[in-house]
Amino acid sequence: MAKLFINENKQAGHINAEIYGHFAEHLGRCIYGGIYVGEDKAIPNTNGMRNDVIAALKEINVPVLRWPGGCFADEYHWKDGIGPKEKRKKMINTHWGGVVEDNSFGTHEFMELCKQLGCKTYVNGNLGSGTVQEMSEWVEYMTFDGVSPMADLRKENGQEEAWKVDYFGVGNENWGCGGNMRPEYYADEYRRYQTYVRNYKAGDEIKKICCGANSGDYDWTDKVLKVTHENTPPHLHGFMDGLSLHYYTVPNNWTTKGSATDFTKEMWYQTLNKALFMETLVSRHEAIMDQYDPERKIAMVVDEWGCWYDVEPGTNPGFLYQQNTMRDALVAGITLNIFNKHCNRVKMANLAQMVNVLQSVILTEGEKMILTPTYHIFHMYRCHQEATLLESYIKTTEIGIEEEYKVPNLHESVSKDKDGVIHITLNNLSLTESYDIETILTEKNIIDVKADILTNDMAAHNTFSNPNQVKIQPFTEIEITGREITFQIPPCSVMKISIH
Ligand code: AHR
Repeated sequence: MAKLFINENKQAGHINAEIYGHFAEHLGRCIYGGIYVGEDKAIPNTNGMRNDVIAALKEINVPVLRWPGGCFADEYHWKDGIGPKEKRKKMINTHWGGVVEDNSFGTHEFMELCKQLGCKTYVNGNLGSGTVQEMSEWVEYMTFDGVSPMADLRKENGQEEAWKVDYFGVGNENWGCGGNMRPEYYADEYRRYQTYVRNYKAGDEIKKICCGANSGDYDWTDKVLKVTHENTPPHLHGFMDGLSLHYYTVPNNWTTKGSATDFTKEMWYQTLNKALFMETLVSRHEAIMDQYDPERKIAMVVDEWGCWYDVEPGTNPGFLYQQNTMRDALVAGITLNIFNKHCNRVKMANLAQMVNVLQSVILTEGEKMILTPTYHIFHMYRCHQEATLLESYIKTTEIGIEEEYKVPNLHESVSKDKDGVIHITLNNLSLTESYDIETILTEKNIIDVKADILTNDMAAHNTFSNPNQVKIQPFTEIEITGREITFQIPPCSVMKISIH
């Protein structure tokens, strides 16, 4: 019997809804075709946004959306994407597939998308190849309500009122595709560019995100924080509200990543082991951040995470289109549990990417749409948004086939929502074993329990001909005795248990 202890008296932090955020780049069929279809009458849409995709995304309460990239962001010149569509520049998307980017989706369309989703806006600026003036004017265009050249231009383009930009990224991956910079150089550039990201409206301050590390590059975190804090008054906390972190779960290696759907049991454990590395990354970057920012004014923003496999055979290699199986569901379940447990520092995270690219929640083909196993995890875990993290502990054992890639058998996080309902999200990483679980609360006498489960074979996935192969099922075999519940979790599964 595996015991799961929950201490309702130990409120361990607030889980920001933005931990459940998303990322949409001008990459492959993410924006074009996946979200935005313009005036295409064949696919039902509202102001160009696919109705089916918007409705599905609203179900998972998308809290925030990051756009326009990614690597695309540091080559994006926002003025190309405003004004009459027929006059917008057509250009090559040099990063992603070498296809024509017609700029029909630009700032106005992004704001419309966020309005339809009811989510916060996270715009990523161009520091790599853009100027300070260009970045500053973009912010003025989007957020200034008075009389100014950029506010006037916005109005000429049909948008009278200023929008709210909740988060603004000052460059993306500037250690790589965003300019191949050294940390000291980027940090100085960050200081300069962010100066002109003005706040035009009191109460609507933009949260500025500084480009953080690639995976385990702790030196980047240390040096960027050192330079941004040098001679900076402490109340400005290095001129930033957030520092990003990017980490992708790549089963094999960057040259031969491995197939999304055709993998062995060894690769199952290898992938989960690599996903669990997020715990080490967050803890170690957190420790460095604690040195410069002990009061935790700077959020850790994991604004790109997810599984990265070889592209689906026969698709454009530059489009990064991949399928999504129960393995992705477990990676998402584990990763979101880790973020929940670190919610005192991790304030936002953005899955890469929303539709048709990498670990997507939705895949489309023409007018058809399917929900992936990862979508179902976001659906189950939405209960944690804006909830209070509770202290919890589960006794685990190590499992796995190869010594190098051992993983714990079980993985959990627990929160309490505003109505006092306690939500457990529990993952069984084993491909073969089910486990008896005894959950013990310190105080509460349990009145009722509701549970859902996502379970299937390791490579099970949804297709356009079989869209419901993997779906959430109700789970009723739970016994309640006073402060305890007992149940059995099947292999290869993710459960949500809600205790009333
Ligand atoms: O998500 C795909 C790419 O991965 C992004 O454009 C980039 O930031 C990262 O390297």
